[in-house]
Amino acid sequence: MQEERVDRSLLDDQARLQKADPSDMLGAVESLPEQCRNAVAIARSAELPSWSDFDHVVVLGMGGSAIGGDFVRALLEPSLQVPMAVNRDYSIPGYVGSRSLVIASSYSGGTEETLAAHELASQRGARVLAITTGGELAQRAEAAGQPVVRIPGGLQPRAAVGYALFPLLIALSRLGLFTEPQSAIDEAIAVLAAQRDRFQRAVPAARNPAKSLAAELMGRAPLVLGGGGWKGVVAYRWKCQFNENAKSLAFSNQFPELNHNETCGWEAPEGLTSRVAAILLRDRSDDQRMQTRVDVTKAIVAERAATVAELWAEGESDLARMVSLIYPGDFASAYLALLYGIDPTPVRMIDRLKAELARLG
Ligand code: F6R
Repeated sequence: MQEERVDRSLLDDQARLQKADPSDMLGAVESLPEQCRNAVAIARSAELPSWSDFDHVVVLGMGGSAIGGDFVRALLEPSLQVPMAVNRDYSIPGYVGSRSLVIASSYSGGTEETLAAHELASQRGARVLAITTGGELAQRAEAAGQPVVRIPGGLQPRAAVGYALFPLLIALSRLGLFTEPQSAIDEAIAVLAAQRDRFQRAVPAARNPAKSLAAELMGRAPLVLGGGGWKGVVAYRWKCQFNENAKSLAFSNQFPELNHNETCGWEAPEGLTSRVAAILLRDRSDDQRMQTRVDVTKAIVAERAATVAELWAEGESDLARMVSLIYPGDFASAYLALLYGIDPTPVRMIDRLKAELARLG
């Protein structure tokens, strides 16, 4: 048997975990199923206007608050009858006007890009809905008579992924853009709860796949590759979670596009490729063409990468399969932080940038 490269059992020392994670990021990750349930209840009971007739939907947001827009867009794209965009910038597209539905999403309510884009969308007469815990965004929206879906505070935005995803999804269905997938929502939360039973900190590393994956990633740069459609967004979520939780450089890409460029990069000098840990996010419901494409890529990558891990989506509905591929990345990135001896919660580099930008006005 191959000797273990990193001592995974460090992740079984509960006292050590508690000390290394003073703000309890793992607790936030572990409570995601309950967070999702609460997010669904909030969204179903929120007061919304009886708007209709939109030419398109534009979600304004950054980072952890924008990714919910990506998930919903990728999920609904095959059936939505109007285009949907996620806008991560101070500016907004020229087409935004009175026939637009704009959702301003900011967990803190204080993100300057989102606030600037929100102001422009309001000036253009768009129908604007805010999803936030409060802050400047809630104040400005309420002053303008815009509806606000209030979500609970106290989390890091990236740990509030249930609040980024479900209120947006349900608001769009309540505004008539599609029929709420109630059974898929129930299934998604049940899948998350079942995954938590396997990935949570109380499950020893020897039979906890999220802890084992974190150990495999130590000292390596994760490269997360998503199959088609929403799996590309999930791959990007993993990358961001490795960046923000584990403070690790990480990369992501999406099939089939990556086969037209990135794949050539595996001819790079070994000193570079041997530091990369590839993670393939897969889905049995992808068609045979996509499966073959991923299999061939896996073989190419396996010749050069330090390691290749493969994760398969669980569940029936697209929504359940999507969240089932998100959740292991949330756990693995938090465990990787703890293996590195890094507190997963603070994001000093983001805070520093925000503070310096605010100072410069
Ligand atoms: C931090 C995080 C960030 C924030 C981003 C925008 O946990 O995930 O990516 O989401 O800086 O801030 P909010 O979400 O407050 O608008």
